Amino acid sequence: MIGFAAIPPEVLSQAGVAYVHYVSFMVCFGALVLERRLIKPNPSKQDATLMVITDVVYGLAALALLGSGILRVLYFGQGSAFYTENPLFWWKVGTYLAVGGLSLYPTITYILWAIPLRKGELPKVSEALAKRLGWILNIELVGFAAIPFLATLMARGVGLPAA
Ligand code: HEM
Repeated sequence: MIGFAAIPPEVLSQAGVAYVHYVSFMVCFGALVLERRLIKPNPSKQDATLMVITDVVYGLAALALLGSGILRVLYFGQGSAFYTENPLFWWKVGTYLAVGGLSLYPTITYILWAIPLRKGELPKVSEALAKRLGWILNIELVGFAAIPFLATLMARGVGLPAA
C-alpha cells in the first residue's frame, strides 16, 4: 500500500500539476472528437445544445491545460530555462496557440447558435459550413496529437543547445 502521507509534499504537488496537465489534455481531445462526430448540416436541437456544451468544456479544459503548463514551466518542472531555451518548447507553445486560434471560428459559430437555441429555434447550418467546421476540427485534432510528441522530446532535453 502506498501511504500518501509518506510522499514529500513537493513531489505530490508536482504530480498533481502534471495530472491536471494530462487530464485537461484528454478532455480537450475528447471534446474535439465529440464535436467532430456531432457536426452536420442542420443539427437537431439536442445535438446543437450538446455541441455548445462540449465547446464550453473544451474551452475550460484548454485553459486548465495552459495554466498547468505555465505552472510546470515556472514552478513544478525542470526549471524555466530548461524549457524557454529549447526551440521544441516554442514549437509546442506555437502549435497550441495555432490550434487555439483555429478554435475561435467554431467557438464563435457555436456561441451564435446559443441565440436561436435559447428562443427554442434551431440554428441554420449549411452543408458548406458543416464541411468547413469538420475540416477545422480535423486540423485541430492533428495539431493536438502532435503536441505530446514535441512534449516528450522536450522533457528529455532534445533540442536544447549544447552547453
Ligand atoms: C502552452 C501551453 C503548454 C505549456 C506551457 C506546457 C508546458 C509543459 C511542461 C513544462 C511540461 C513538463 C516537461 C517536463 O517533464 O520537464 C509539459 C509536459 C507535457 N505536456 Fe505540456 N505544455 C503546454 C501545452 C500542452 C498541450 C496542449 C499538450 C497536449 C496536447 C501537452 C502535453 C504534454 C505532455 C504529454 C507532457 C509530458 C511530457 C513527458 O514527460 O514526457 N502540453 N508541458
